[in-house]
Amino acid sequence: MNSQVEKKLEDILKTLEDRLIDNKDFFKGISVEYSKKEKETVRTVKAKLYLENVDTLVFDYKKSKTNISVDTFAQVIVYSGSDFDDCKVVYSERGSETTVWTEKNNVKVKHKDVTSTAAAQDDVSTRSNREYLVKAAEAREVLKEIGIVSAEGKVKNDMIRKYNQIDHFVELIDSLIKELAHKESITILDCACGKSYLSFVLNFYIKEKLKKNCYFIGLDISEQVIEASKKMASNLGYKNMEFHEVNIQNYMPEREIDIVISLHGCDTATDMAIAAGIRYNAGAIIVIPCCQKEILSQYSYEPFKEITKHGILKSRLADVLTDGIRGIILESMGYEVSIVEYISPLDTPKNLMIRAIKKSGKNRRAYEEYLALKEAMGIEPTLARLIHI
Ligand SMILES: C[S@@+](CC[C@H](N)C(=O)[O-])C[C@H]1O[C@@H](n2cnc3c(N)ncnc32)[C@H](O)[C@@H]1O
Repeated sequence: MNSQVEKKLEDILKTLEDRLIDNKDFFKGISVEYSKKEKETVRTVKAKLYLENVDTLVFDYKKSKTNISVDTFAQVIVYSGSDFDDCKVVYSERGSETTVWTEKNNVKVKHKDVTSTAAAQDDVSTRSNREYLVKAAEAREVLKEIGIVSAEGKVKNDMIRKYNQIDHFVELIDSLIKELAHKESITILDCACGKSYLSFVLNFYIKEKLKKNCYFIGLDISEQVIEASKKMASNLGYKNMEFHEVNIQNYMPEREIDIVISLHGCDTATDMAIAAGIRYNAGAIIVIPCCQKEILSQYSYEPFKEITKHGILKSRLADVLTDGIRGIILESMGYEVSIVEYISPLDTPKNLMIRAIKKSGKNRRAYEEYLALKEAMGIEPTLARLIHI
């Protein structure tokens, strides 16, 4: 390569250095191919670079591995290729690939959206009467890792309902994420994350489909599911995730939280998730409650006594009261609330979604409504205690 081409190549690679510094969480690796004409043949030599830690890349070239600083790879690649005629560099990160190559004393650049071109035919066996937002064929790697699709890429029979639940959740959160377009990166706190199915799929969808940077924090009280989640993130190379074995109510985030989610946080774990969202001033809180037990053991309401004498009706009414009170408390804290069935009850009977979007300061009217209901029913909801109202 002549010095002019080397300079141009280095300048372009320097822009990729900046990209790597800003996007380490999404970086996959760099491959380099040097080539030189020798008589009738072309000799090629390959190199690759991958992250050793946040500041260091490994430059693997001619059977030796050298640690280099991330802000020097442009220089190292160009210097190592000075005896060659041409050089092709492929810079890969999750969802995209940039190729820079020299050709006839010029340097060319091509950017490729990896996810959409990789999308093969969808797995028709899992189709319902709606189009999946996260298609099994596109998201095969992540769905395989979290155990939703088999090694052959087919959605497992016993996972179809989980897949449906996650995909519907993604659909309902989609517009919300698009509303946060002005943010460089979105941080999502997944409370009672379990094996973090939802976070993994959302991570794929936001980064690789919407092309938006994101960060996930998963909380669960069980060591087993947290270890399993960490392992899956590591296997996938998803560096934009952290998981903590902790009771939700004891967690203190170190970054601003944009959205709190919780899928089937049992009983008061859902209240802890909502309280976390309120405490950290999250722009949105989206929870799918389950096993609402607390209010059942507390409430009594004289006008309903002929109805609530039937245990099943008292229990069903308690579920409605629990989620209704959660909605009113959220409204009193300035959130706009909608409570909807987010999926068919055939997929899960625990199919109610509470969707709260922060709109304004506190709402006195809603607060007074809450106080009146609390008084009439004789209840002390955990959510109110957690947020000290
Ligand atoms: C039914 S699982 C749901 C897991 C996951 N969100 C999903 O949908 O696959 C409920 C999870 O809540 C966790 N959990 C319950 N109470 C909790 C608390 N106070 N703090 C953190 N995690 C809690 C449990 O350990 C369990 O993993």
